[in-house]
Amino acid sequence: MMAMISKSSFLLFFLLSAFACTARGQALSPSFYSQTCPSLEFIVSSIMATSVQRDPRMGASILRLFFHDCFVNGCDGSVLLDDTPWLIGEKNAGGNRNSLRGFEVIDAIKASVEAACNATVSCADILALAARDGVALLGGPSWQVDLGRRDGLTASRAAAEANLPPSSSSLAGLIGLFGIKGLSPRDLTALSGAHTMGRAQCVNFRGHIYADRNIDPSFAAFRRQTCPAFGGDDNLAPLDNRTQDLFDNGYYQNLVVGRGLMHSDQELFNGGSQDSLVGLYSVSTFDFFRDFVAAMVKMGNIGVLTGRQGEIRLNCRRVN
Ligand code: HEM
Repeated sequence: MMAMISKSSFLLFFLLSAFACTARGQALSPSFYSQTCPSLEFIVSSIMATSVQRDPRMGASILRLFFHDCFVNGCDGSVLLDDTPWLIGEKNAGGNRNSLRGFEVIDAIKASVEAACNATVSCADILALAARDGVALLGGPSWQVDLGRRDGLTASRAAAEANLPPSSSSLAGLIGLFGIKGLSPRDLTALSGAHTMGRAQCVNFRGHIYADRNIDPSFAAFRRQTCPAFGGDDNLAPLDNRTQDLFDNGYYQNLVVGRGLMHSDQELFNGGSQDSLVGLYSVSTFDFFRDFVAAMVKMGNIGVLTGRQGEIRLNCRRVN
C-alpha cells in the first residue's frame, strides 16, 4: 500500500513539475548538450582561437554580436538572420549596418557543429559560447555558459532600432534601457567594460571629441587627427587606446582621466551614480571580472526560448 502511494505521488509530482517547466520555460544548464553534442565546446573554442589569431578584433566583434542578439527579442540568434523579401531583420538596422562583424565565423562554427551533431545545437547557444571564448582569448575571464536556448523564427529591424543604445545616450538613458532588460546599473557599468577591446567608427564618437566638455583636451585633439569634423565617417579608432586587443580594466582607467572614446562611455564617469564603481574597476581587475561574468550570465538569460519554443536552425542565416 505504502509503495503504491509513494509511486503514484511520485508520478503526480513528476507530471506537475513537467507542467511547471513548460509553463515557465525551462532553465538553461551548462550540461545541456553533454550527451547530445559532447564536442561542442571544443569545436567552438578551436574555431574562435583560429579566428582571433588571424584577426584579434574578432573577439570583440563576436561579443558585440551576442549583446545585440540578447537586447533584441532576447538571446535567440535573431541578429544572425539575413533579410528576405518576407523578413526585415536586424542586420541592416541603424547601428548594425556596416558595423556588426563576425557572421562568417559563426557560419564556420555552425557548419562544424552540424557535421558533428546534426540539428542539435542552436545558433543562439553557439553565439553565447563564442562570445565567452572571444573574451577569454583576449585575456579576459572565462565562465560556464548556460545552454539550451532555441533559435527564434523572426527578427525585427524596428525592434533593433528601439532596443540598442546609441553612442549619444545619457547615463539616465542607458540605465533605463538596461533596466527594461532586467539589468541593473551595476550590470550596465560592468558590461560596458566590453569596450576595453574593439574599434568604433568616427561617426560614433565625432560628437564627443568635437563638442563635449567632459573629455581630456589632448585626447580629443589626438582623436580629431583621424576623425575629421566632416567626412571620414568610417575611420576607426580603438575603444581602449591603451590596450585595444586586450580584455583588461584599461577602459575604466581611461574613463577616470576623461579618455572615454564615445559620449556614452564617458557618461559612466561624469559626476553621476556610476563614478565610484568605475573608480573601483579602474583599480581592481578582480572586481571588474567578477561583475562582468555575473552580468554576462544575466544578459545571456534575457528572453530565451526553451523546450519546444522556436527551433534549432540548420543555417544561422535563415529559419528552417
Ligand atoms: C552601454 C551601452 C553601449 C553603447 C551605447 C554601445 C555602442 C557601441 C558603438 C557605437 C560601437 C562602435 C560601432 C562602430 O562604430 O561600428 C560599439 C562597439 C563595441 N561594443 Fe558597444 N555599446 C554599448 C554596450 C556594449 C555592451 C554591453 C557590449 C558587450 C557586452 C558591447 C560590446 C562592444 C564591442 C566589443 C565593440 C567593438 C566591436 C568591434 O570592434 O567589432 N557594447 N559599441
